[in-house]
Amino acid sequence: MRDHPFWQAILVFIAAWILVRWGIPYVPPLVGISSAPVPTSVELQYMLTVLVGILIWVSDNEVRWKRFKEPIRNVMVQPERKWMRVAFLVAIPLLVAFVTYDTVRPKVTAPVGLRSVHPANPTSITVDGESIILEGLENPFRAEGRGDEAYALGLDIYYQNCMACHGDYLDGQGHYAHGYNPLPLPLRGGGTIAQLTESYVFWRIAKGGAGLPREGQPWNSAMPAWEDFLTVEEMWAVTYFLYEQAGISPRTWEEH
Ligand code: HEC
Repeated sequence: MRDHPFWQAILVFIAAWILVRWGIPYVPPLVGISSAPVPTSVELQYMLTVLVGILIWVSDNEVRWKRFKEPIRNVMVQPERKWMRVAFLVAIPLLVAFVTYDTVRPKVTAPVGLRSVHPANPTSITVDGESIILEGLENPFRAEGRGDEAYALGLDIYYQNCMACHGDYLDGQGHYAHGYNPLPLPLRGGGTIAQLTESYVFWRIAKGGAGLPREGQPWNSAMPAWEDFLTVEEMWAVTYFLYEQAGISPRTWEEH
């Protein structure tokens, strides 16, 4: 079998497929993914090229071409290979049917598209039946110089409610954090709340993942809507606490 062109062709084809499928590292133009399988369309193109190459090679020489066709011909005409013909007759339509079914069947996958981590906030929100206009709004604790009070209250609230996800160190590494996608955001450092006004952070705390507008909608953010569990005052206090604890100051309205 080893020097029969038919089996050699099959062997080369399988080897090429393994190489294309698993041997070639493909780096997609997406941040955060270092390598991924070659896309199916590219895989198909490569395999077609390989097939053409193999056919050129087997048909290049008259003797080799004849030997190559032999096993195919045998299956098609020999009376004692009838079982094989029947098997192919059943297997091929079944395979086509399965592939067709697999491509058209509805699948549950996350919608593709880039998620905006900080989508624009709504102009006003309603919390506890009260309408709050976010534009120009400041943390009442900060505005009234009641920072110490806010810190003490916010600290309790944070460690009772937020630590499991956002972490002891506010670094987004809470015990439950790794179970979520998107991950709970770190509240420390320059990347998240340092860029935001306190009213924005208040809105995110009050309305959670469910309150995100379309462009920020990952459809599966685990961030709870804290308006269901905390009072308006408590949410302002925990907002104050986040900035104090992280050692950063909120973006102010004057900077706009
Ligand atoms: C069940 C896990 C979970 C808990 C508990 C939780 N969060 Fe979150 N939080 C998330 C996730 C996940 C995100 C990122 C996705 C998103 O923005 O909705 C997030 C995002 C945030 C953001 C947005 C930060 C930014 O830069 O946009 C703030 C602020 C926040 N959380 C504050 C809190 C506070 C305060 C608490 C406690 C009162 C809390 N979180 C409790 C999971 C959680």
